[in-house]
Amino acid sequence: MTRSLRRSRRPKRLLEVGPGTGPFTKSILNALSPNDELHIVEINEAFCAHLEKEILAPFRRRMPNAKIKLHCAPIEDAPLEGTFDFIVCGLPFNNFPPKLVRSILRHLMTLLTPGGELVYFEYAGVRVMKAPFVDPAGRRRLQRIGKIGKVMRRQHEGRREFVLGNLPPAFAVRLTRGDGQGR
Ligand SMILES: C[S@@+](CC[C@H](N)C(=O)[O-])C[C@H]1O[C@@H](n2cnc3c(N)ncnc32)[C@H](O)[C@@H]1O
Repeated sequence: MTRSLRRSRRPKRLLEVGPGTGPFTKSILNALSPNDELHIVEINEAFCAHLEKEILAPFRRRMPNAKIKLHCAPIEDAPLEGTFDFIVCGLPFNNFPPKLVRSILRHLMTLLTPGGELVYFEYAGVRVMKAPFVDPAGRRRLQRIGKIGKVMRRQHEGRREFVLGNLPPAFAVRLTRGDGQGR
């Protein structure tokens, strides 16, 4: 999930959405250079308090000049300014209504700097595995989410990388914003 941002050498603006308890955050912080800027958006106040206490505060003590801002808010409303070179998104899209998935993905694409990359993950085969356990409306919802992902990949040079080592196996989905393309 965080491989691309490790390759970039120039100062960069990074955004993490839905960090939860912070497994990706730790990896992002390890790759952070002194002139980089990291914004983190998490809706859950308990997770925000945990991130601040266990991960961000110790990091700030080691790197007092690090530019890190935690927004405890939904990504739909977070007061973010400017655009980002990399966005790492840990939102569980398969649990969301399709309309919300589409609007969040579009919103994240508008927050990307041209040439920037958005990466999110989905568990491999999750829609197929879930399908027998949900009602017809639930199956249609999962199919629509699958289609939204396909359209986004087609529109934004999308690539899916299979990560067998994850438990359960997952895909990292990378979308790129071309010049003049936000939606
Ligand atoms: C699947 S969890 C975190 C995954 C984490 N990256 C990991 O690998 O363990 C998703 C997180 O997204 C947060 N979240 C859900 N909806 C959100 C929203 N609209 N805006 C920001 N964060 C949200 C949840 O509170 C949760 O912490």
